[in-house]
Amino acid sequence: MSLIYPQYRALKGSNTLYRIDGPLHFLEWQGLGENRWLAHAHYAEIYPTRVLLQELLEAKDSFEKLHAEEWNERFEKREANALSGSVSQVRVSSDSQRIRNSVDLTDWTTFGVPALAKKWMSATSDDEVRAALTYAEDQGLPLLIMGGGSNMLLHRDWPGLALHIGLKGFQVLRENGDEVDVVVGAGENWHDWVMVSLEMGWNGLENLALIPGNVGASPMQNIGAYGVEVKDRFLWLEAINIQTGALHRFDAAACEFDYRESIFKSAAKGHWVIVRVAFSLQRKAPLNTEYGSIQKELEGLPQETWTHRDVADAVMRIRSSKLPDPKELGNAGSFFKNPILSAADFAALRVQHPEVAHFVQGDGNIKIAAGWLIEHAGWKGKRRGTHGVHEKQALVLVHYGGASGKEIWKLAQDVMADVFEKFGVQLQTEVNQIGL
Ligand code: EPU
Repeated sequence: MSLIYPQYRALKGSNTLYRIDGPLHFLEWQGLGENRWLAHAHYAEIYPTRVLLQELLEAKDSFEKLHAEEWNERFEKREANALSGSVSQVRVSSDSQRIRNSVDLTDWTTFGVPALAKKWMSATSDDEVRAALTYAEDQGLPLLIMGGGSNMLLHRDWPGLALHIGLKGFQVLRENGDEVDVVVGAGENWHDWVMVSLEMGWNGLENLALIPGNVGASPMQNIGAYGVEVKDRFLWLEAINIQTGALHRFDAAACEFDYRESIFKSAAKGHWVIVRVAFSLQRKAPLNTEYGSIQKELEGLPQETWTHRDVADAVMRIRSSKLPDPKELGNAGSFFKNPILSAADFAALRVQHPEVAHFVQGDGNIKIAAGWLIEHAGWKGKRRGTHGVHEKQALVLVHYGGASGKEIWKLAQDVMADVFEKFGVQLQTEVNQIGL
């Protein structure tokens, strides 16, 4: 299991304190005499800092491990004793050094199409995000915010700064009997977080196992699978305003969640960098097995023994049987959204195609399986040399190697035009088109 951050440490026999916020990031409050302090933010990318971080994590020799409460107590005492005018500033280790030139983005997206970013940086704290935003503004560079790169197709080189969001860590905010609220760094891998949550007994995310991408992107398009959406377990998120650098907290209502939608894809698009997301989970969360294929997977086990882990395992088996693993075959999951039709439009479609796969929504509208439309338009498994439509799930476009973003986009357009011609339904992409 991964470490739960933050971790708390102190230098024995001194009043120097450390807070380790992630695998590469820690803060140090260095005591200068009795009541003066120097605060540093460290990014353990280079050798001596890495060694220091390792020693801190292992609480070796001169370092001691503290519980959060003990650490807070010492920290607060320090605050109370601090001289006014004491040295106290957070120094982020030279951001300009960390900005790289001409970085190949191929492996930073799950589609794996080639594209270069003029500038690239990974930010592991709020302050580093702010520093990067300021840098991009000062240099007049267009900004591309990247999480796990699992929901984007790059059409060309990025002429500005590609900012990778690398904030890590988990922290329990509140535990109240059955309920647990946990905040997670935007840069944590989504599936790893789901696995940690299950191991800790913080249940409710099991249906969302194996979804590619990072935590920060999960509320953006309200990721969902097998009857659960992120909005169902969401508490709040914090995001930094790109213009002002201010940190703002959004609750679920403010996010305006909808099917694969949120305010961050509409009115607030391009205005915020999501830095952390808090989830509201339950030790005894009800199992959600309404999705037919999950029931089928669990058939062999007596129902009274089903656990959250069993549901996660079932979801993982179903996903792996239909959806390509981006590590083996480039893709961005469902390329298209399932279109939602009014009852009248659906009735018209059904006259021609009575067998069309669909799901009636709570509001009376009807969601059509785009995979069905694409398959029945004859595209499932179609390959154009370097790329094609996945043979097991027609909603997914795949990159076998050697294709450009533009070529994959051409295929997507051809699929959309053909589906429109054959069924009169206009598909929309779920995947973000970058540089179109
Ligand atoms: N179908 C076909 N042919 C296909 C694919 C689907 O006929 O090639 C029909 C079948 O009738 C099938 C129905 O569509 O029963 C639903 O298929 P599936 O259960 O695979 O779900 P989906 O609607 O195609 C959505 C999500 C997936 C998510 C699954 C399971 C969208 C755009 N996609 O796919 O999410 O995993 O449900 O909940 O809503 C993703 O967003 O990247 C993603 C993979």
